[in-house]
Amino acid sequence: MIELNNLTKSYTGGQKKAVDNLSWKINDGEIAGFIGPNGAGKSTTIKMMTGLVSPDSGSVALNGFDITKDALRAKQQFAYVSDTPDNFLRLKVIEYLNFIADIYQVSEEDRNSRITDMAKRFDLMEVLERPIMEFSHGMRQKVMIMGALVHNPSIWILDEPMVGLDPNAAFTLKELMREHAAAGNSVLFSTHVLEVAEKLCDHIGLIVSGQMVFQGTMEELKGRYPKGTYLETIFMEITKNA
Ligand SMILES: Nc1ncnc2c1ncn2[C@@H]1O[C@H](COP(=O)(O)OP(=O)(O)OP(=O)(O)O)[C@@H](O)[C@H]1O
Ligand SMILES: [Mg+2]
Repeated sequence: MIELNNLTKSYTGGQKKAVDNLSWKINDGEIAGFIGPNGAGKSTTIKMMTGLVSPDSGSVALNGFDITKDALRAKQQFAYVSDTPDNFLRLKVIEYLNFIADIYQVSEEDRNSRITDMAKRFDLMEVLERPIMEFSHGMRQKVMIMGALVHNPSIWILDEPMVGLDPNAAFTLKELMREHAAAGNSVLFSTHVLEVAEKLCDHIGLIVSGQMVFQGTMEELKGRYPKGTYLETIFMEITKNA
């Protein structure tokens, strides 16, 4: 379960609040989609959830553990995929995955089966011995997803995880998210692809200029507009004065 309570953040020199009094709750078994225009505050919110950015006020609880007051236990609860996959470029894929597995004290047996399973599903079996530096953007993105999931945490937090993925990899990731939520876990991801949010999410949060302007199901959002209105039109309508 993910609980965000009245999160607020202003960056030094920022004209306005990047995130303004944002509260959101994602239950176990739910996939939540985080949508909103560029600069709306999605990544800032996600970084506050993961402890990378300190909120000015408000709190975050992950499976009940406060990210500020009980950081270590809170950090054991989640996987995080950032919006940039260009990390640890000098390491070979397998070195990177073992490094993450070591940090989280994943047994040899568990890591081997997870790495093999994910590498097969993401078509990376042949390149495990290659340095990440040599990879395309999408390949790096797949490696970061594998690294995030190698310790099998219950909560997944993914910042624009589909960017750069080919249709097969995007399908695999959506399948993994569905399986994970169906097993009773929480998944939160940001996206600009409204169709993905519509098809995949039990719940969406729409943020505009740092403020959550809608929380609920896509059906509820669409229900506020004449039948047949395109999602894109709804999005543009809500965000036009941002
Ligand atoms: N490190 C930073 N220093 C100063 N301002 C920042 C910083 N990071 C983000 N901001 C500002 O905070 C606001 C929210 O940015 P954020 O990256 O959270 O948006 P986003 O919704 O993730 O956008 P995108 O869809 O483009 O990824 C923007 O106005 C941005 O300029
Ligand atoms: Mg972002």
